Amino acid sequence: MRLDAKFVTSAFAPEGYPRWDRVEVALAGRSNVGKSSMLNALAGSKNLARTSRTPGRTRALNFFAVGDRLAIVDLPGYGFAKMARTQAARIASMMNDYLGQSERLAGLVLLVDARRGPEREELDLAALAAGRGVKLIAVATKCDKLRRSERAAALARFKPLGIEPILCSALDSEGIDELRRRIVGCAREARRASTADFLPR
Ligand code: GTP
Ligand code: MG
Repeated sequence: MRLDAKFVTSAFAPEGYPRWDRVEVALAGRSNVGKSSMLNALAGSKNLARTSRTPGRTRALNFFAVGDRLAIVDLPGYGFAKMARTQAARIASMMNDYLGQSERLAGLVLLVDARRGPEREELDLAALAAGRGVKLIAVATKCDKLRRSERAAALARFKPLGIEPILCSALDSEGIDELRRRIVGCAREARRASTADFLPR
C-alpha cells in the first residue's frame, strides 16, 4: 500500500499555508538526511519531492495532500554547516512558525541519520513536539549504509530521544511500510480526537 500523495503548494510563511481540513504530519530533519527521498518512498514515486546530493535542496514548506483527509509537509532541512547564515535563520524561523502554530499538525516524523544519531537540534524538536501534544515518530535513515554489526549501536544512539526509531532506508525500502502505518495511525487518532471535540457532552 503506498500513500497516494499529490503536491499542492509551497509556502514560506503562515499566509501561504493551505486552508484545508486535513490532518498534517510533517517530516523534519537535518539537511540531506533524506526527508524528500522518504516521502517519495512512502508514495512509491521517484520524483514527487525533489531530492539532491547537495544539502539545502528543499527551501520552503512543501504541502502534499494524501487521499482526502491527510497531508504530509516536507520541511526544509536545518543544520547544514555551509548554509549562509541568513538562509539558516530563514529556515529556522519558517520551522518555528509552522511547528509552533499549525493547528492541524498531528504528528512529527523526525528523521535522523542512523550513523549520526540525535543531537541538540533533534532533542529540541522532540521537546517542542511533546510540548504541543504532537505525536513524535523517530526514523533512523539510510540504514542500508549500516553493517549488520552496527545496527545495535545505531539503535543505542537514539536512547536520549526516549523513543525507539524505525530503522529505514529509502534505497532498499526497509521500514517504509511500518512508517506508513504509523503515519496513517497517528492521523486517524487525531481525527477521532478532533471529532470527539464536537460531540455533545
Ligand atoms: P534537504 O531538502 O536538503 O533538507 O535534504 P533531504 O533531507 O530532503 O534529503 P534528500 O531526500 O534530498 O536526500 C539527500 C541525499 O541522500 C540524496 O543524495 C539521496 O539520494 C540520499 N539518500 C536519501 N535517502 C537515502 C537512503 O535511504 N539511503 C542512501 N544510501 N541514501 C539516501
Ligand atoms: Mg528535501
